[in-house]
Amino acid sequence: MDETRAVPSLLDIPADRYWPPEAFLRDANVTDLVASGHPNEEWPRQWEDAASLLAWDDPYSTLIDDEDAPFYRWFVDGTLNACTNCIDRHISTQKNQVALRWEGKRGEQRTYTYYDLYREVSAVAAALRDLGVEEGDVVTLYLPKLPELPITMLACARIGALHNVVFAGFAPDALVERMRHIDSQALVTCDGSFRDEAVINQKRKADAALASLEKSIPTLVVNRLGKSHDTTLTNDQYDYESLVETYSGTDVPPVSREATDPLFHIHTSGTTGDPRRMTHATGGYLAGVAWTAQTVFDLSSATSLWCTADIGWITGHSYVVYGPLLSGSTVVLVEGSLHYPDRHRPWEVIEQNSVEVFYTTPGIVRTFMKWGESFPAAHDLSSLRLLGTVGEPIGPDTWEWFYTHVGERQCPIVNTWWQTETGCVLLSPIPGIDEMKPGSVGKPLPGVEIEIVDANGQELPPGEPGYLTIVRPWPSMLTPLESDWYWVLAEYWQTFSDPRADSWRYFTGDQAVIDDDGDVWIIGRDDDVITIGNRRLGTAELEAAITTVDGVTEAAAVAERSGGDTALCVFATLTQGPQDRNSVRKTITETVAERIGEFARPTAIVFTPELPETYSGKTMYRVLEHVVNARPHSDSDSLRNPAIVGELNTVWNEH
Ligand code: WTA
Repeated sequence: MDETRAVPSLLDIPADRYWPPEAFLRDANVTDLVASGHPNEEWPRQWEDAASLLAWDDPYSTLIDDEDAPFYRWFVDGTLNACTNCIDRHISTQKNQVALRWEGKRGEQRTYTYYDLYREVSAVAAALRDLGVEEGDVVTLYLPKLPELPITMLACARIGALHNVVFAGFAPDALVERMRHIDSQALVTCDGSFRDEAVINQKRKADAALASLEKSIPTLVVNRLGKSHDTTLTNDQYDYESLVETYSGTDVPPVSREATDPLFHIHTSGTTGDPRRMTHATGGYLAGVAWTAQTVFDLSSATSLWCTADIGWITGHSYVVYGPLLSGSTVVLVEGSLHYPDRHRPWEVIEQNSVEVFYTTPGIVRTFMKWGESFPAAHDLSSLRLLGTVGEPIGPDTWEWFYTHVGERQCPIVNTWWQTETGCVLLSPIPGIDEMKPGSVGKPLPGVEIEIVDANGQELPPGEPGYLTIVRPWPSMLTPLESDWYWVLAEYWQTFSDPRADSWRYFTGDQAVIDDDGDVWIIGRDDDVITIGNRRLGTAELEAAITTVDGVTEAAAVAERSGGDTALCVFATLTQGPQDRNSVRKTITETVAERIGEFARPTAIVFTPELPETYSGKTMYRVLEHVVNARPHSDSDSLRNPAIVGELNTVWNEH
């Protein structure tokens, strides 16, 4: 944060404005904030309303306890169970309503009613309990987009265990990294999955990870590939389906948890780039997610939603699993890539499942744009009511295309800003109320207060870009375990807070600017984290993998952006002596695929005699970003080795 970043002049072009379409307003959940009891000034009453969307075992006595600020505790003394909230309480009213519809890669379809979910979740909860999983234990889930993933998440929640979902595309090393320090008591994985025509052996990856753990833990293995694929199970490994059969019909009383008890862990990347353990608390997280599901995504019982995110990321936790199920909605879960078997698949999914809310990323919309409008045009998309995007800024052209060719100019678009740490959406237009400006994330939701500040923490006026900070606590905020307090304080709170005055300000790691109407425009991340396909990749984790390659001394990864797409580029320095550069390149690519995952393969690898460095020896990523994005670099003053800039441009242009 020591250098100022060149900021695109977002506000130079007057924004188009759109009001919520009439068609949407007819059935919207929220069309008048005051009438719905959410006037912006009334913090924190707003969050009491959010809590009232949940079923509590015991009511809370204190809304927010700031004794250990910034480690706020929400809904103190309240008790509840997440699984009861997502399933049991819907049984009396909508037992036979579809809760989950799964579209498999090979054309399979599976449908679960709320009652079906109740039965399978109970069976898995009973099995986990018998395998020794107790309240407060952690279970790691390493599964692709299968119904068994939300089912095991909820089974954990039912018995008061924490889930730790690890994206199935991660390699064994990355899985182990995310299980370390957590003391996982069990693992749930599957035999494999399909990628287009290929079969991915997930079990082999899981076994490799298990082999490097200090102790053996029980493992449940879901059969995805079918009976014809042989999977060998060791003593401690159990076939998921047989367990469900054995425990079928078992009633497992839900464990009443304190609102402040952790519900799950999830890993993300912070400024150091290493995977960081995030923790969300049961009551606060569920309240934030339930309220935004209703307000931002307009969910109610019987709404059908398709969110393309993987469940391994926070978007999947909050808006594939918890938000929709808390609302009693129907979740559409789609396995595999959107182009398989052909480019009609996304639109067939919407058409065949009467999807009403479609939530995706700008990157995916750009892919749809490249494929062309003839694909959505060939389908009846009239079930759609609301569209949403998340994960990176959306350009006005992409927004327009989505609005016109997918929403047929009848569906509002919610451009939602939030993070793993925030748990739920914090900035977004409210679709039945707010004017939308293509590219802007709108205003903070009621109850959320932000400030854009300069490097000294001084609030900046509209039009001036700076650091996006959040001034007040919110219920679904990160609630780290006490053993994580130290680094969480350093990473998120210290930069812009004044602890002596007990004044706390959360730093998001993003830069943004507010326009004269109070609408926020996100510029991008300020730290050493690259977002590719809505996945936050820590540059340090990538670089650590790359520098294990023989002959490589240092590496720095940066993002190249073209036409809205992001590609991963690596600059590396080599040891003295003759090197076959192509073979080093190949080994780097293979190592990244092996240690991090296939999705993280770099698109370009170039070699340079030195990396650009500050006087204190920190790599200046900004210089590399300017090189790959062909932007002039102006602040060489802080560089220890300014002469390297010319060299970097040369090696980049020649690659
Ligand atoms: C970025 C994903 C622009 C931002 C839910 C944030 C966005 C990071 C938007 C969090 C948006 C998220 N416009 N940028 N609408 N939404 N981001 O933790 O940089 O995977 O800090 O959570 O994504 O990524 P994470």
